[in-house]
Amino acid sequence: MAKAQTFSCTACGATHNKWSGRCEGCGDWNTIVEDTPLSSGPAKQSLGSKRGSSVVLSDLSTKETPPPRTHSGIDELDRVLGGGLVAASAILVGGDPGIGKSTLLLQAAASFAQNGLKAIYVSGEESTAQVRMRAHRLNLTQSPVKLAAETNLRNILTMLEVEKPDIVIIDSIQTMWADNIASAPGSVSQVRSAAHELTNFAKRKGMAVILVGHVTKDGQIAGPRIVEHMVDTVLYFEGERGHQFRILRAVKNRFGPADEIGVFEMTGGGLAEVTNPSALFLSERDEPAPGSVVFAGIEGTRPVLVEFQALVAPTPHSQPRRTVVGWDGGRLAMILAVLESRCSIPFSGLDVYLNVAGGLKVSEPAADLAVAAALLSAREDIAIPADTVVFGEISLSGALRSVGQFENRLKEAKKLGFSKAITPTRSKETSGDHPGVRQMPDLTSFVGEIFGAG
Ligand code: TYD
Ligand code: MG
Repeated sequence: MAKAQTFSCTACGATHNKWSGRCEGCGDWNTIVEDTPLSSGPAKQSLGSKRGSSVVLSDLSTKETPPPRTHSGIDELDRVLGGGLVAASAILVGGDPGIGKSTLLLQAAASFAQNGLKAIYVSGEESTAQVRMRAHRLNLTQSPVKLAAETNLRNILTMLEVEKPDIVIIDSIQTMWADNIASAPGSVSQVRSAAHELTNFAKRKGMAVILVGHVTKDGQIAGPRIVEHMVDTVLYFEGERGHQFRILRAVKNRFGPADEIGVFEMTGGGLAEVTNPSALFLSERDEPAPGSVVFAGIEGTRPVLVEFQALVAPTPHSQPRRTVVGWDGGRLAMILAVLESRCSIPFSGLDVYLNVAGGLKVSEPAADLAVAAALLSAREDIAIPADTVVFGEISLSGALRSVGQFENRLKEAKKLGFSKAITPTRSKETSGDHPGVRQMPDLTSFVGEIFGAG
């Protein structure tokens, strides 16, 4: 019986049942190769005849000591890493071009080097002179970091074999190319193979590797997503270009909590740590204005206060606009629908704009009530008192659900001078414990009490 052959495209991963010069999936030429599954082998030689070596099994109870960590000395970075850098770990730092990844990682390399690690920074995008210029600007010229400008993966691996650093930074993974793969640097197969080679090499040799990945909008080069599953930790560096705030967010971490954030400020001399993000996010807040509400949120393990701003205006169009920056558009639609159907407050015929001040992206459902408050405040043109924070999740029935870390949110609010809070009702707590806290069972009572309508 003829052996069933399969072929797949090395660029897009599409499978085909015959070879051809051009992949129908992605349109690339000469990317289709024959798959040879490990288990099948040549005819007659099925699984049983050629054995692999035996695999050692162990118990779940096997004792492992927690991995040793090295602190960079940049607290915001250490926290996002889960308490410092784990030896032999692979980390991906993704972000838009120009957001500050190279700046952050050069500063991180210098800090690790200062703490006794041997650090190598490989730039595939800039010459060593350019990196030195940046180091000069960052006041790091005396740091013992070693530099290389190289894109050939084979050369880099040979250099790492000789140098045996504790940490290597590859800036960026999209510029690396393996000479055993025919496609261009930045293609899916190159990025995947470069990341695979580097992470495997690093694990074998016990060195930590940080890969920089550009987020690409046009899809011409492969984005960092295809590398995410190969690494232990995925960090995204976010922020608005026009703003000086930058947020380093852990979206995956095998060695610590995900969703932790580190906050930085881009200054003329590099990235500066922001140890009190709440104060920073609220620093530009003026007098209480309709549409502005302070939300007591939690980012990772830290409470963070941010301002939600809403603007509601009659629309000149048949289809009103819903524009959101820093929050989920679907969630906004849900809250508008709940306000409309449970509280009879229509938003049809009104454009709605919602913005999270400072460039933070909030994903907690606990912000629901703050969003509703901002929308209502803007619509009714009534300002929420300046000393009040708001949080709580809204369910589709219009009920308010309590959220985690109640005390922590209130504590942070108090620390920043907010004496009042509007929250969902909690089952066991009495409002006597928190003098300034008004607990509400549902959205209708919230609307009635705060806006005197509904
Ligand atoms: P960069 O680290 O090159 O971004 P990425 O590697 O993510 O592409 O940062 C580029 C921007 O940062 C650039 O617009 C200039 C700005 N910058 C500062 O504002 N201050 C500094 O000290 C440095 C080094 C850069
Ligand atoms: Mg860069």
